Amino acid sequence: MKRFWCALLVVLAGCSSMLPVVVEDDVRRAEGRWPGTTRGVLEEGRQKYIDRCGACHSLHLPSAFTESEWKQAVETMQVRAKVGEDEKEKILKYLYVGRGR
Ligand code: HEC
Repeated sequence: MKRFWCALLVVLAGCSSMLPVVVEDDVRRAEGRWPGTTRGVLEEGRQKYIDRCGACHSLHLPSAFTESEWKQAVETMQVRAKVGEDEKEKILKYLYVGRGR
């Protein structure tokens, strides 16, 4: 029975629950690369990624692609996903620092 509920939870939550949450280490690395970047920026990026990119297909983990592949993917998907420039930057920052674990 326990197994059933676990399976159901996974289905309901989709893959977004598997996406790494923002940790202190990510924030430090982000600040090093883009001075002034806050935890909030990365968290917003993660949330936008879930909201904007998870509607049509399952979400890939940040580690699934290189930075240039991510940039290309987000730019290709940008119109379909109705992602603005500001949102795009946040999503990419989340994905870039999320790769480096
Ligand atoms: C309106 C639906 C839709 C949205 C929203 C969307 N995608 Fe996609 N995505 C697709 C389709 C359909 C494909 C299959 C290949 C193609 O048609 O280009 C795809 C393919 C991809 C791929 C290629 C790898 C694979 O899984 O096949 C990546 C990476 C990707 N999308 C990332 C994103 C990201 C990042 C976002 C958010 C910025 C996003 N997608 C939003 C429809 C969508």
